[in-house]
Amino acid sequence: MRPHVVAQLAVSLDGMTSGFDVDLARFYALASLWQEDVTLIGADTILAQEAAVLAAPRRGPRAEGPLLAVVDSRARVRSWESLRQLGYWSDVLALYADQTPERPVDATTRELVTGYEQVDLAEVLETLGRRGAQTVRVDSAGALLRACLALDLVDELALLVHPVLVGSGDPWYDTRQLALQHVGTEVFKDGTLWMRYCVAI
Ligand SMILES: NC(=O)c1ccc[n+]([C@@H]2O[C@H](COP(=O)([O-])OP(=O)(O)OC[C@H]3O[C@@H](n4cnc5c(N)ncnc54)[C@H](OP(=O)(O)O)[C@@H]3O)[C@@H](O)[C@H]2O)c1
Repeated sequence: MRPHVVAQLAVSLDGMTSGFDVDLARFYALASLWQEDVTLIGADTILAQEAAVLAAPRRGPRAEGPLLAVVDSRARVRSWESLRQLGYWSDVLALYADQTPERPVDATTRELVTGYEQVDLAEVLETLGRRGAQTVRVDSAGALLRACLALDLVDELALLVHPVLVGSGDPWYDTRQLALQHVGTEVFKDGTLWMRYCVAI
């Protein structure tokens, strides 16, 4: 059975995903409320932080932490061991496709292969569910989130709306109409909103 899939993203008041300072402490404090079994992240999000990941202290895997599953059909991620040692996740899982380039022979990262050219996100979630995952949190404000939404794979959506207008950039959503059921909104003193919705299919 497919796990419950939640997605949280930080956006500006005009719906942009970058170009402003994200309140990371609040973002991760709120994200941790789901206590996800698996954090699902795209390769581009990992690559955008790779220098910081490589430089971060190696605290070692956190046994009670979620599994980090990274969609990486082009095998671009190299920082697997640093991610595993970061102290947040219990382990890492590379999500590859049939046509993913060959991995180094000494690669030790666990992998799950689905799809032909691209990772099959629905099959990934089914497999994670069969392996016992109940909650998966998608950590993306871009292509991965849009792909999951297009495939009707997201059950719950949370927006951390920062009180700033950016004026230009990439909007987090610009595809088909999506019906949402409002679950709750929290207003913080600095004007940041935490808006939660169920995705109605
Ligand atoms: N504001 C926020 O809350 C927030 C949250 C997370 C990240 N970010 C920022 O967003 C930026 C990255 O966003 P992004 O959109 O470039 O990358 P992303 O969210 O990491 O998405 C790219 C990943 O999605 C995969 N993907 C896309 N469409 C797919 C499909 N149909 N089927 C299967 N896999 C698919 C790509 O696969 P391939 O492996 O084939 O390329 C790639 O691994 C970074 O700068 C990051 O810091 C912001």
